[in-house]
Amino acid sequence: MTSYERWILRTDHTTYAVRLSPDGPWAELDAWGPHGVEHGPSALDWSRRTHFITPADAAPAEYLPYGLRPFTGSELVASRSGEERGVWWDFAGAEESEGTLRLAFTDHVVGLRAVLCYETVPGTDVILRWTELTATEELRLERFDSAAVNIPVGGTARLTYLAGQWSQEFQRTRLDLQRGTFTIGSTQGVPGHAYAPWLAVQDGDSAAAYGVALDWPGNWHITADTEPGGIVRVRAGRVPHEGAVVLAAGETLVTPRLACAFSPDGLDGLSRVWHGYERRLAGERLNRPRKVLYNSWEATGFDVDAAGQLELAKAAAEIGAELFVVDDGWFTGRGDDTGGLGDWYPDPEAFPAGFDRFVADVRGLGLDFGLWVEPEAVSPGSRLYAEHPDWVYRIDGRPATLVRNQLLLDLGRTDVQDFVIGTLDRLFGDYDISYLKWDMNRPPTERGRPGSGPVDLDAEHAAGYLRVLDHLRAAHPDVTVEGCAGGGARVDHATLARTDVVWPSDNTAPLDRLSIQYGFLHAHAPHVMSSWVTDAPGVFDPRPRSLAFRFVNAMCGVLGVGADLRRWTPEQRAEARRWIVRYKEVCHVTHHGEARLLGSPEDSTFGVQFDAADRTVVAALSTGRLDGAPLVPGRPDRLRLRALDPAARFRDTATGTTYSGAHLLHHGLPFAWSADHDADLVVLMRE
Ligand code: DGJ
Repeated sequence: MTSYERWILRTDHTTYAVRLSPDGPWAELDAWGPHGVEHGPSALDWSRRTHFITPADAAPAEYLPYGLRPFTGSELVASRSGEERGVWWDFAGAEESEGTLRLAFTDHVVGLRAVLCYETVPGTDVILRWTELTATEELRLERFDSAAVNIPVGGTARLTYLAGQWSQEFQRTRLDLQRGTFTIGSTQGVPGHAYAPWLAVQDGDSAAAYGVALDWPGNWHITADTEPGGIVRVRAGRVPHEGAVVLAAGETLVTPRLACAFSPDGLDGLSRVWHGYERRLAGERLNRPRKVLYNSWEATGFDVDAAGQLELAKAAAEIGAELFVVDDGWFTGRGDDTGGLGDWYPDPEAFPAGFDRFVADVRGLGLDFGLWVEPEAVSPGSRLYAEHPDWVYRIDGRPATLVRNQLLLDLGRTDVQDFVIGTLDRLFGDYDISYLKWDMNRPPTERGRPGSGPVDLDAEHAAGYLRVLDHLRAAHPDVTVEGCAGGGARVDHATLARTDVVWPSDNTAPLDRLSIQYGFLHAHAPHVMSSWVTDAPGVFDPRPRSLAFRFVNAMCGVLGVGADLRRWTPEQRAEARRWIVRYKEVCHVTHHGEARLLGSPEDSTFGVQFDAADRTVVAALSTGRLDGAPLVPGRPDRLRLRALDPAARFRDTATGTTYSGAHLLHHGLPFAWSADHDADLVVLMRE
């Protein structure tokens, strides 16, 4: 048996073993799975017989450049300016310490040092991987992924990804990949509505699930290739807008981090690994209560004025909301979506007694105050644009495309970042603001910065965005930040590490929202999922649902209300008040407990189970007919719970009914749905 150098990384429950290949100068995966998986011959080993390809093309390599791996897809495509592409490197040493590993490779001919970096995340089953590329000569990089991730599959790989479009984000989608390449990504300057930068891979029907998620708020791609060596190889990284990045001699490019996760318990177990990881990303801000929000956007649109907003704020306070957010439309020139962006001053006509008076009036109702801003946007008719036409992305001689009647500021420019920071500091200084909703509603089109030579515009925009968010956290730590991009177009780990909640979608219709949240919760934690109860009818699924359904659905994340409360009856307001009281009773469990998705929205009863040590909270939603079917004599629908102690006893706090854990696991919780009863929130105390 060949002996080779091997390094082992351990997370809470998993082992990731990397070895130096016996076949050439590259690192390859030896084992990845539950602790102990590294003892035995590697499941990624292959015959070593190749025909028409090189050993590197079939190896389960961790990272290989084009050149050394000529045919089957490489993570790095580099050349000296004006010369042939290709890197052929040698192993240059390993550095290992508790939870970290760095493997260096150098190509002296081209002048490149590449370091493959690994770091385990304590308290999770996540390993972060990234690559540091240092040029000793000027280098042109056409592709520079963060990592390649190898997954052994017996036959067909099952890929799960989150796909959609505006208003239909995060749809859980599956594909069985027998041969070929699968690709998802975005060139929209943000992760985009079409695909989340997230992928899960399973070996056919096997439970074990591997996942990756990219820590990058700009352009990206993830590919999965079936490999000649009988594995699936996932490659992920950012994508330079210009198609290539020029690295000056002595410069180092650090790729975004790729979070790699494993669970033996399928997509469900994998989702809990991601939830745990996002709790860590939140740091100490995890413990900041997410206040029940009221947002007036769906009620008033651009028709914002002090009197109308105060009427809504009063109603919001009455039902128990804790925070009032004025969305788009509060600033000068913003009667509709054709103007105003960039001129971030409250409209004096809408707030005749002054905005500070208005904010004080909202606060006088016992509510915190929050504001919507779209910092990267500018309207062509704004004063900002008249003063700084050079601040937008543009290409000389080309007309600017308007999307939603607006242009995009080049946030990669330091002066633009300083303007945004100055604007937000001024607003937070002038008014008592405790919540910011940061929106972004258009992708870059004519993306250039005339006169600046070759620049990595996408990376600079991302860095500017993150710099401003970092400033907010440091300078205004008490301000809660909601990330939003025309719905859910910018939900990624870099954003999640710097915001408190994100807005998954503009679609708030009950059954549509259920399907969006179902996908979202596969990748993201409940404590980041902003969700509103509104009046919106179904966009894609017009079946009506009750107010209770809307509340229970929204309570699976961070509850907000976005309905036009002025039109609600006293009975509806009273019901809302009751639900908000219940939410406040359970949100420590729903935000901090373990979440399990029970079935899917295609089942007649779908649920989310949240477990704390002393109680289990179950959100149950009827997706089927509302006429009480199955008809008499029928039985109630049942929702089987999971992972409870079969011997434990649980008491339903509302009805007093007691159940054994075995009963809840085997038969499930009963729900007798009817036309008036299509959702429930059950709290089961462990006795
Ligand atoms: C898009 C967001 O997703 C909505 O919630 C709302 O803030 C609008 N923009 C306002 O223009």
